[in-house]
Amino acid sequence: MARKLAPGRLVIASHNQGKVREIRDLLAPYGIEPVSAGELDLPEPEETGVTFAENALIKAHASALSGLPALSDDSGLEVRALGGRPGVYTADWAERQWFEGPEGRDWYMAMGKVEGLLAEQGPDVDRSAAFVCTLALVWPDGHEEVFEGRVNGHLTWPPRGSLGFGYDPVFVPQGGAQSFAEIDPAEKHAISHRADAFRKLVAAVF
Ligand code: IMP
Repeated sequence: MARKLAPGRLVIASHNQGKVREIRDLLAPYGIEPVSAGELDLPEPEETGVTFAENALIKAHASALSGLPALSDDSGLEVRALGGRPGVYTADWAERQWFEGPEGRDWYMAMGKVEGLLAEQGPDVDRSAAFVCTLALVWPDGHEEVFEGRVNGHLTWPPRGSLGFGYDPVFVPQGGAQSFAEIDPAEKHAISHRADAFRKLVAAVF
């Protein structure tokens, strides 16, 4: 059985304000007071793992050194015909490689890269894909709990819709016809990989 999380302060091991806000809302009903790793000036460790769980644990352990329990998430897209890639490198595939010029992420380039690799395998390629989210909860004594959520679906081309972020315009969830960037965000949040992982965490630790 999972260790229970007592009400009180919890570090969100992320410097991404959007993620921190989302997690704060999700945990508010349980008496948890989230503080971000940024607010506590905690270092941002390098994500050197080869699985989502390894990366989530690296981030949560680094934040648990603060003396508070820490929660982190790591997520990405797994494409079956690409052997699960881009996986933990999902964000890296959007990294611009210009010799000179602006830094930043280019999601259209990343979606095009995935599509190009699928096209190389011919018109009958398996277009199955899944978004995966792993949550890691680590206590200051080193105790760990890990929860994995996923949403299965397939990739469509060309990209469709302007809502959401990242690879949403090419991902169509199982049983649906619209991409994640075309459906209402509330609907996406109800079926997403992150929602699935959070449901498992809430059921286990509260
Ligand atoms: P990280 O977990 O912050 O390292 O980000 C993983 C990457 O996966 C993000 O930068 C997004 O590109 C992608 N990703 C994760 N969740 C979603 C989602 O719900 N929609 C679209 N892309 C996502």
